[in-house]
Amino acid sequence: MFDDPTLLLSPASTMRPRRTRRTAALRQFVRETHLSPSQFIHPLFIIEGSGIEKPIETMPGHSQRTVDRLAAEVAELRGLGVRSVLLFGIPAHKDARGTGAAAADGPVPRAIAELKRLAPELLVIADVCLCEYTSHGHCGIIHDESGVVDNDETLPLLGEAAVAYAAAGADIVAPSAMMDGQVRAIREALDAHGHADTPILSYAAKHASAFYGPFRGAAESAPSFGDRRAYQMDAANTREALREVELDVAEGADLLMVKPAGSALDIIRQVRDRFPHPLVAYQVSGEYAMLKAAAQRGWLDEPRAALEALVAIRRAGADQVITYYAKEAARWLSTQG
Ligand code: PBG
Repeated sequence: MFDDPTLLLSPASTMRPRRTRRTAALRQFVRETHLSPSQFIHPLFIIEGSGIEKPIETMPGHSQRTVDRLAAEVAELRGLGVRSVLLFGIPAHKDARGTGAAAADGPVPRAIAELKRLAPELLVIADVCLCEYTSHGHCGIIHDESGVVDNDETLPLLGEAAVAYAAAGADIVAPSAMMDGQVRAIREALDAHGHADTPILSYAAKHASAFYGPFRGAAESAPSFGDRRAYQMDAANTREALREVELDVAEGADLLMVKPAGSALDIIRQVRDRFPHPLVAYQVSGEYAMLKAAAQRGWLDEPRAALEALVAIRRAGADQVITYYAKEAARWLSTQG
């Protein structure tokens, strides 16, 4: 791009980048990255029972809700142009093996069926993990007090959960447990049960991040001991993230995800440059909570700050963004110039 240095030195070429910033019309004209509600994925937390909508304290504007409380939410999303949702289930009963994750009448399969009834065109993504369903809050099976999550014994359980969600009508399943080989195991399970057409969105590079804090309250999935560093990635590593992505691609991932987003923009960019797959980034609960908390104190202009954070994630290379700001951002985009 800058291969002719004389251009920069020539007095005749006094470049004035401000020329294209002078008016809103010019700024809009030269904008390189665009945000649209159709690029936002809205997370939903489903609980068992009926008639309950329980606000999540650490994530203002979000609630845990029962399946019969989805209609208004779906109507709102449709009105705003948000076309996809990501489902998390919180079961009434948890056990050591997280068996609830694969229950056909669990919160996620029931929510999928209801969403498909309410809005067949809505794209429904089901998160596949055990942490919301295990009594200890880890993402897989644990045998003893050592606390080690047994990778290979966890794989079939993830496969069963994915099959249950595909059978209920999920458009995409999204494994987030960070078990080695989970994409292959899920692909094989789906194919063996007649769901060869269900795509896998792999949480391919997922850091063991402090920014998941508010989510764990929302999904009631905080580990009761230890942490997830023995299976989720160290946030300091980029090359390892690319290897994780490469492996998931080899195992059959159809779409890729990087998570968190705001603290991994470099990884989003590198994945974008190396892999042609559709790329999703997850602006996680802590990223949302930081902006919300500062905005509530009047320390930030919330619409501007939130849209700036979102456009940065898109600029880094994400096609789609999972964001707790989906509804608000869609609203702000329709009112801003
Ligand atoms: C489940 C899962 C988590 C998130 C998405 N899927 C929690 C975790 O890994 O501890 C975090 C999402 C967020 O913070 O918004 N494994």
